[in-house]
Amino acid sequence: MADDDARDPAAVVTIIFDLEHHRGAIDRRLFGSFVEHMGRCVYTGIYEPGHVSADHEGFRGDVAELIDELGISVIRYPGGNFVSGYRWEDGIGPRDLRPRRLDLAWRSIETNQVGTDEFLRWAARREVEPMLAVNLGTRGIEAAADLVEYCNVKGGTYWSDLRRGNGSEDPYGVKLWCLGNEMDGPWQTGHKSAEEYGRLAAQAGQAMKLVDPDIKLVACGSSHHRMPTFGYWESTSLEIAWDVVDYVSMHAYYEELDGDRRSFLASGFGMGEFIDDVAATIDAVAARKHSRARPKISFDEWNVWYQQDFPGTENLEIDTSGPRIEDVYSALDAVVVGDLLITLLNHADRVAVACLAQLVNVIAPIMTEPDGSAWRQSIFAPIAAVTASAHGVSLVGRVRGPELATDRYGDVPVAAAAAAYDDELRRAAVFVTNRAEHPITARIELRGDITWTTVESATVIVADHKGPLDAAAAREVARPLPGTRLDTNTVTVELPAESWAALRISAR
Ligand code: AHR
Repeated sequence: MADDDARDPAAVVTIIFDLEHHRGAIDRRLFGSFVEHMGRCVYTGIYEPGHVSADHEGFRGDVAELIDELGISVIRYPGGNFVSGYRWEDGIGPRDLRPRRLDLAWRSIETNQVGTDEFLRWAARREVEPMLAVNLGTRGIEAAADLVEYCNVKGGTYWSDLRRGNGSEDPYGVKLWCLGNEMDGPWQTGHKSAEEYGRLAAQAGQAMKLVDPDIKLVACGSSHHRMPTFGYWESTSLEIAWDVVDYVSMHAYYEELDGDRRSFLASGFGMGEFIDDVAATIDAVAARKHSRARPKISFDEWNVWYQQDFPGTENLEIDTSGPRIEDVYSALDAVVVGDLLITLLNHADRVAVACLAQLVNVIAPIMTEPDGSAWRQSIFAPIAAVTASAHGVSLVGRVRGPELATDRYGDVPVAAAAAAYDDELRRAAVFVTNRAEHPITARIELRGDITWTTVESATVIVADHKGPLDAAAAREVARPLPGTRLDTNTVTVELPAESWAALRISAR
């Protein structure tokens, strides 16, 4: 079978894109991230008033610079599991009057020194779109509608005038709202059945849209593909809340389990299967409802996360920051993150929003030392490469080549590829993963009425076996890819074993 070919060192993969055949414009909101009140994501992550680089509101300038460089478009806040016990009113008004609360999700103490106003003003300074989650765990309709009023009503009402009194005269105009977080998960505070959640989401969503009809709502999908209620959860809750739902959320974390490196390298394939299943479920509900509407997907938590190393929170002593979850990433993890980005680009017609979880310190591309420096992890490189060059439309591609046998996903293509084409700049960006344990030659055909002139840049990340990388090594993880050849409409590249490459090709 194909597996033998995959071991052939002369393996050649042909990848064909046609400029006429695309999925439409790539929504920049595909390149979002996530800030949760968890561990050191907020406190000593984005926010540290005593830090030498802190701005007038106490947010770190060195972290802000790295976020800008990462090219993030949307940031989801304040959770995550945290939001399911959060009282948003605790986080507004004079800071010295804000209560210290026990955070049930992470068994930590929340000081509320950062809340809605600080986050939204910071997001505006960063020019990123905020995506707020409401608590549908311990709270419900009223608190959710009040928060929309606080954020989006101009003035003349109790909550909007309170916002103005708290220093934000103009409404924030927050458009994207999550109806709770992972409500299908038994670990979630206020966990619900699909029927209970669907009803609460419908009612809270209706009230929120009565406050501001322009907002868009994200309903909780399943916490991961292997949840026992997967599929049933989506179809049941969506059927009930259909009239108010604009997006269905997906969450997935990937890790190398039991040394199964091959399956880990095929994580992008697994993510694609998951998206296809959720899209099919949305279509089935639409069909049952005789509706032309097609809620899109908000993949609002995704990343590599070594969850097998996370002992959980049950036996955790309550302390100020709770569990750290500060995974240190390797070059292999960066290749996998690149592969996952390829999958998101290749589903840009169904996935409109996606958030890498999380942004700083907690399973994050950016790390900080309290009172010290901030640095990039290895997974920073593929994200920055994609946000910088995936402009225009997402091209539909075909990959012809051998397959690899994996334990988790069966036979998967040796290579994965995605491409974007920007007609204004007359530039294409191509991203390719070689999942095989040997080098491959990739012939990338870019068909269309166009004369390609230059391969502007070609970089590669190779999954060496060096393990977690320190700041200096992580910074060097992407290096120039030598030997790239352009012949008419075909770019030929030699991809090292287990690697991920980013190319930019321009035309006359
Ligand atoms: O991102 C960390 C946690 O993972 C989030 O709080 C939760 O939504 C998910 O299970």
